[in-house]
Order: sequence, then structure tokens, then C-alpha cells
Amino acid sequence: MVMISVVVGTRPEIIKMGPIVLELQKRDMEFDIVHTAQHYDMELSAVFFDDLGLPAPTHTLDVGSGSQAEQTAEALRKLEGTFEETAPSVVLVEGDTNTVLAGALAAAKMGIDVGHVEAGLRSHDLRMPEEHNRRLTDHLSSLLFAPTETAKENLERENVWGRIWVTGNTVIDACMTFMRTAEEKSEVLDRVRFDEFSLATAHRKENVDDPEVLSHLVEIFTECPVPVVYPVHPRAVKMLKEFHLYEKLSESKNVQLLPPVGYLDFLLLMRECEFILTDSGGIQEEATSPNIRKKVFVLRISTERPEAVEAGYAEVVGTGSGDVLSAVGRYLEKREALAGPSPYGDGKSSEEIVSILREKPS
Ligand code: UD1
Ligand code: UDP
Repeated sequence: MVMISVVVGTRPEIIKMGPIVLELQKRDMEFDIVHTAQHYDMELSAVFFDDLGLPAPTHTLDVGSGSQAEQTAEALRKLEGTFEETAPSVVLVEGDTNTVLAGALAAAKMGIDVGHVEAGLRSHDLRMPEEHNRRLTDHLSSLLFAPTETAKENLERENVWGRIWVTGNTVIDACMTFMRTAEEKSEVLDRVRFDEFSLATAHRKENVDDPEVLSHLVEIFTECPVPVVYPVHPRAVKMLKEFHLYEKLSESKNVQLLPPVGYLDFLLLMRECEFILTDSGGIQEEATSPNIRKKVFVLRISTERPEAVEAGYAEVVGTGSGDVLSAVGRYLEKREALAGPSPYGDGKSSEEIVSILREKPS
């Protein structure tokens, strides 16, 4: 029987692996969960295991924070030790974080098959650590679960060695599965102090670690024509304080800062907001979910999710305050309906991925 080691390290990996873990459980397959604890605070990690009803990690590796190289190296070293002990036949990684590259590299060097969930995304922006991670991981993988045909084409163009399946993105499964629980359990909307609000997140290294870009983001949020609810990632808190921008944001009447919120809370915020301002990857996908369907202004100069743009949900607006506020203004004048289906599948990606894993010879 195939023994699958599900590796996670950060918030989006837990959310997107969640539906796969639940499907593995449902089909009684052999698996364990290895958490590098790249994200270790309750609000970036444990809350998602609770919200999604996931079993606790079998191994937690305490990798924590560090420079890009330190963090990747520490995860690589500790994952190798773990795989020696657990001897999985497949190591499953999701996305593009340092944990993902470390998991794929450790496994490949030990002759263990790597399955990459969300394979084939490309931003073509080599400033991004995520672009290094996803490119290298795709070339180390023998099972490539591409969310879309575009992602598959990217992989084919690069002549990756592994076998490719187009499966959709498991984040749509998560949105579809957990919205009802969110409606039952989340009280986040009672905490929002505006009748009408937009939703913001920002955490990308190339944005928040750059004082000029970060001051533009602060200007966008404080001047946005629809007041902004902003659950702030700890990396952004740290940099806002370092660049003396935190007070301007926290004292603005146009902005409500929150700590990072759990998944059930975030699902309701996405569903109820007027539009989204973000540099997140996953949120661009979730905005296309049939039960969310929101316009997303992508606060970046590129996206590895062109399908969300083509489907009319996302617009890449850069990080200049003038450009972003003009784009928001144009949208508010027309508020065109978002009619298209999600390009990221029908919420059955995890079923498909687990079926493929089940049929794999051990
Ligand atoms: C990481 C991923 C990014 C992903 C994001 C999801 C990489 C290169 N980046 O970025 O792709 O989109 O996670 O949110 O892997 N911190 C805490 N508590 C925590 C974790 C981090 O306070 O539990 C703070 C620390 O100051 C740390 C900083 O956040 O130095 C950055 O954390 P890190 O995991 O290195 O990168 P993210 O920006 O979270
Ligand atoms: N998210 C959340 N709470 C928050 C902000 C985001 O649950 O306060 C969820 C969001 O729904 C999405 C994921 O976290 O599924 C995105 O994580 P992030 O933006 O940190 O990473 P990325 O997708 O950019 O890698």
C-alpha cells in the first residue's frame, strides 16, 4: 500500500492540503502529516487544523523563521531525518514555499517519489522566492497535479520529467466544503465596524520588505473609497513598525486592522466584502469560487494566476497608489457582474488527486 507523507509548513499549505487529508482519511489510506512549523503562531497554523477538522501533525519540526537559506536548509535537514524514520512511498507537497522546496529536495535525494500539488504556476518574476521554489519543485516531482491547462502547458514547455494531471485547485474544495461551517460558527462579521467594506491582505516579501512599496500600500488602504478591513500578516506588522508606517494605518478611520483570522472567519469576510485588495496567491483563486465571486485587485506587477485575470475576476494593478486607486474607482463606477465559472475547478480536486495516488503502484 502507498504510504503518503503530507508535508505542510505555512497557512496556505494547511488550507490547500486540508481537503486532501480529509479525502485520504475518508478512503482509509495510509498517511502521515509532517509540519515543518515554518509558520508556528497559533493564528497562522493551529487555527487551520481546528477550523478544517484535521488530525494533528504526526511530526512537528520547529523550523521556524530565518533567512531564505537558513529556513530552507533547516527544513531540508529535518525533513530528511523524518523521512528516514517514516519511509514514505510518496512525499506530497503543495505550492511554492521554502517548506515545499525542502520537502521535494529531501525526498528526491532519497529516491522517494514527490507529488506536487499546484504544479506549473509561473510568475516569471525571479525576485520572488516562491518562483525559485515552484520551478525547482516541479523539476524534482514525479507526480505533477497542475490546477489548469495553462499550468500544464508551462510544465510541458520546460520538459519536466514527471507525469502531469490537470486536477483543478484544492482551494476551491476548501471554499465549497467550509463555507457552511463558517456560516454556523464564525462571528467575525459582528466585529467589522463598517456597513460596507473592502478586504485587504499584503505579505509578499517584495512588497512589504520594500519601504517605498509599503508606504504606497498604506496610502491605498487609508484612501480607498470603500473602507478597508485588513487582517495583518506578522511579516507586514514587523515591516510596518520598522518603517514607521504602523501608526498611520492603525489610526486611520478608513482602516480596521485585525490580527490574521482563521479560515472560517476569512471565508465570510471574502463573501461579504465589496472587493479584495491583495498580493496573496490563494485569495486570487478563492475569489473565483462559486460561493465567493469577488473582484480582486492584485497588488503586484505579475501574477502566476493568469486564469483568474482571463475569467474577469482578477486585475493586476501594480503597487503604485495612483494606479491602484484609479482602478478601484473605475470598477466602482460600473461594478460589472462577474459571470464566469471558476477556472480552478468544481471543488472535486482532492478526490481526483487521491484517486491518482491510490492507483499508483507502491
Ligand atoms: C511564507 C511563504 C509565502 C507564503 C506565506 C503564506 C516562503 C518563501 N514564503 O511567507 O510564499 O505566501 O508564507 O502566508 O516560503 N512570522 C511570525 N509568526 C509565524 C511565522 C512567521 O511572526 O508563525 C513572522 C516572522 O517575523 C518571519 C516572517 O513572519 O520572519 C516571515 O515568515 P516566513 O515564513 O519566512 O515567510 P512569509 O512571509 O510568512
Ligand atoms: N487567509 C486566512 N486568514 C487571513 C488571511 C488569509 O485564513 O487572515 C487564508 C486565505 O483564505 C487563503 C490563504 O490564507 O486561503 C492565503 O494565504 P496567504 O495569502 O498567506 O498565502 P499565499 O496564498 O499568498 O501563498
